[in-house]
Amino acid sequence: MDLNEAAWLPAKCAPLQVKQAPFTAPAAHQIVVRNAAVAINPVDWCKQLMGNMMFSFVKYPFILGNDCAGTVAQVGDAVSRFKIGDRVLAHAIGMDPNVNQPTEGAFQKFAIIRDNMAALIPEWMSFEEACALPLGLSTAACALFQKDFLALNNPDIANLGTLDAPADPREVVLIWGGSSSVGSNAIQLAKAAGYEVIATASPHNFDYVHKLGANEAFNYQSDTIVKDIIEALGDKKVAGAIAIGNGSAEACIDILSRTRGNKFVVQISFKFPPKVPSTAFEFVHAMAGLVWSNIAIFMKSKISGVKTKMVFGSTLAHNEVGNLIYRDFLPGALEEKKYQAAPKAVLVGNGLGQIQEAMNRHMNRGASAEKYVVSI
Ligand SMILES: NC(=O)c1ccc[n+]([C@@H]2O[C@H](COP(=O)([O-])OP(=O)(O)OC[C@H]3O[C@@H](n4cnc5c(N)ncnc54)[C@H](OP(=O)(O)O)[C@@H]3O)[C@@H](O)[C@H]2O)c1
Repeated sequence: MDLNEAAWLPAKCAPLQVKQAPFTAPAAHQIVVRNAAVAINPVDWCKQLMGNMMFSFVKYPFILGNDCAGTVAQVGDAVSRFKIGDRVLAHAIGMDPNVNQPTEGAFQKFAIIRDNMAALIPEWMSFEEACALPLGLSTAACALFQKDFLALNNPDIANLGTLDAPADPREVVLIWGGSSSVGSNAIQLAKAAGYEVIATASPHNFDYVHKLGANEAFNYQSDTIVKDIIEALGDKKVAGAIAIGNGSAEACIDILSRTRGNKFVVQISFKFPPKVPSTAFEFVHAMAGLVWSNIAIFMKSKISGVKTKMVFGSTLAHNEVGNLIYRDFLPGALEEKKYQAAPKAVLVGNGLGQIQEAMNRHMNRGASAEKYVVSI
């Protein structure tokens, strides 16, 4: 067995440092994955940037990272779904508040993975493509399928691969921010669950969200978008909305308050300043903006009678949705080429030492229908 190495977050707000890490044996319902590729999510650099203002339960040194793909190196005693050598993608949940373990972070060679948070991937799919999925997929699944969120019908591969109008009228899911990682998965999952999808994106991503399954796409920067979506929905019944990006929750509340159906907006993201704060003043300004935005959303929700609730993208590991997605739905959907590894992977570099660069790139440039990936 190779020695383990990780890109450690050594202390609050410090740069990542590649160093040796312990090799941990899997517990009964865990596997060890030898990572071949990892992907970057906003939460990785946000945690590094914000120190103890975010996830203050994390103790340093810590290993960040949610998204990985590789081969199974060891299996726990109670694991029957995987064997050594299997190719898998996995959601590493080290930063889940109920887990809080660096051994379960993705940014290392050998990561501990819960057996309900990994899926077999087909031979033709590269590890780089595969690692683009996990956190976006998990978060979308938590929002769409958990009983305390939209509680949609279960996803079924048979519903994928067609944009045809259904025989009987279906309910509609509104996905604001459809070209983001979470949105790309939410479109595909809502479609797989048998719903129509209205998505928002920049116009250059309209084709992209249509190919994922969105029936209609709207430009979220248009001044008339709320009115346009209300008109498009007409008398259709809405199953709920997923709100991603600044201003999304407010707009979704406005739309659901004036349409028929489930008045429930799942909030995925908090308000973020257009420029990453770099001075104490900018930090205070950003935090004040965040607090004010939360108050405004709370008030709007109360006044309009539309419920809002923030989702946490790893809670499916602790309920039935984890197996529903990673065991029952995803492997077959990937095998049959009916589920896309979206957004498209963009390789930033090779080796644990490149993860900091990939995090910086996402923080400074953002991403548009793309996922920054590092081969390990
Ligand atoms: N609650 C959770 O557990 C959880 C989990 C994962 C992510 N998140 C949060 O969800 C957000 C998205 O994460 P991600 O990984 O999916 O990000 P991402 O892929 O990097 O998001 C980039 C995309 O967001 C779109 N976008 C940006 N501003 C928007 C706005 N105001 N309205 C609609 N779309 C907008 C852009 O669309 P165009 O390029 O088409 O303009 C771009 O494609 C982040 O804030 C992240 O922190 C939360």
